[in-house]
Amino acid sequence: MLAGIVYESNSGFTKQYAEMLGGAVGLPALPLVEAVSKIPRGSEVFFLGWVCGGKISGLPVAAKRYYVAGAAAVGIVYPHPTVEEELRKANKLSCPLFYLQGGVDPKKLGYFKRKILSMIAQNIERAENKTAADWDLADTLRLGGSYVSQANLEPVISWVKEYKSTEEAAE
Ligand SMILES: Cc1cc2nc3c(=O)[nH]c(=O)nc-3n(C[C@H](O)[C@H](O)[C@H](O)COP(=O)(O)O)c2cc1C
Repeated sequence: MLAGIVYESNSGFTKQYAEMLGGAVGLPALPLVEAVSKIPRGSEVFFLGWVCGGKISGLPVAAKRYYVAGAAAVGIVYPHPTVEEELRKANKLSCPLFYLQGGVDPKKLGYFKRKILSMIAQNIERAENKTAADWDLADTLRLGGSYVSQANLEPVISWVKEYKSTEEAAE
């Protein structure tokens, strides 16, 4: 039985998704550092982590401590068709994985993290055949902005609700 929503967030966007999800499915949403003392080892959880260099932050620790029934990766790249498959491979995941587009808040990032994001923006700006979505992403990487929405989260909400009801029916 799912014990909670556990998350790792650096600048707050993953936290927003985790709290929205917890509210929608009726489960507590706890940051990983707090979960370790509140959710017993071995419990079943849904995990959300922010993407840093292709890795889902906090996932190795969460997977060691809990049974991760499903996970969501919160990144900044446009949600293209292969993003979930790429993240699944890079993070050696076997459970269902969702990708959610988060945001950028430069005020909450240190110099080096801002620098990495402006290098990604530069690569996007230099590419040929840019779309309006590419320009928008480059601006967000430099100036900040949020793509967080309830609509993005709907597939995750549906999956968690379905998972919970299947488990309840089996009891
Ligand atoms: C140093 C750094 C590396 C990042 N690497 C990636 C990446 O590889 N892929 C991606 O989609 N987003 C990447 N991002 C963007 C973050 O995942 C995104 O801003 C996310 O919404 C942050 O979530 P948080 O507010 O919960 O920390 C990176 C951001 C930083 C600061």
